[in-house]
Amino acid sequence: MKGKDLLSVADLTGEDIRLLISNAVEMKAEGWSTLLSEKVLALVFEKPSLRTRVSFEVAMRQLGGHAVYLSPAEVGLGKREATADVAQVLARYADAITARTFSHETLEILAKYARVPVINALSDVEHPCQALADLLTIYEKKGGLEGLTMAFIGDGNNVAHSLMLAAALTGLNFRIASPPGYRARQNIWEQTRELALGSGSEITCTEDPAIAVRDADIVYTDVWVSMGQEAQAAERRKAFASYQVNEMLLSQAKPDAILMHPLPAHHGEEVSENILSNPQSVVLDQAENRLHLQKALLAAMLGGLEIPLSNY
Ligand code: CP
Ligand code: NVA
Repeated sequence: MKGKDLLSVADLTGEDIRLLISNAVEMKAEGWSTLLSEKVLALVFEKPSLRTRVSFEVAMRQLGGHAVYLSPAEVGLGKREATADVAQVLARYADAITARTFSHETLEILAKYARVPVINALSDVEHPCQALADLLTIYEKKGGLEGLTMAFIGDGNNVAHSLMLAAALTGLNFRIASPPGYRARQNIWEQTRELALGSGSEITCTEDPAIAVRDADIVYTDVWVSMGQEAQAAERRKAFASYQVNEMLLSQAKPDAILMHPLPAHHGEEVSENILSNPQSVVLDQAENRLHLQKALLAAMLGGLEIPLSNY
């Protein structure tokens, strides 16, 4: 992973993901270190963020390094300055760039022109750091990944794309229930099916949430209107009206199923009003695990920590 970009979960192998999870578990237990002293991470955000920004900044601090945050108003990627120029300049100051963009293409331009690694902190196509941290949460709660079944209910969006690729790389079965017109992108779907051949994951799609959740180990949902889609809010709320994750739907999964959501949530829309306070909900562990997984990721990408930390 050292020196490489992470724009998609598919930039990693199943082996990489298992290593990240095991190092994240150790880093979570150990806390602070000096693995990345003298390293600087630039954070370039075109969209708002709570978890991603704070977890990356704290991750760098806990590893002995520094983070520099640039807000949407400050940089103006492709507006104040060409994205290629921003990439080349930032690479003269920082050892890696973490970027949250509207268009995935902007990330590809950053990665092409920056001579340091670029990490996708969410684009319109993927949210790899979220999916990797979620695998850590599943691993902690269920003791493994292989053979478990995740049911994703709702939009075939950035979070769904990264989760399906991550599932296909690690032997997790993945079912997605989406309304017509809001399915996962065809190219991601094909890539997922291809990767699943190597791990044995079963990957299926349906329009019926009840079929997807039946006996699932994990029920996952995300917002109906992602950042950048605000103009489509009314039509999306209509299309997804019967895709709410509520007590009734959750009761059709396994009795010990966990309920996941990347947050921010719209209570009363994709999730019923109080369901994220239900004991089955692990949303705060998901948010916390962004920090631990990203520490393992940064240590591998910037520090070359590509072996189990316990053997280091
Ligand atoms: N889950 C997540 O990425 O949250 P933020 O948008 O707050 O970073
Ligand atoms: N799909 C959501 C995820 C936010 C973390 C969005 O893109 O807004």
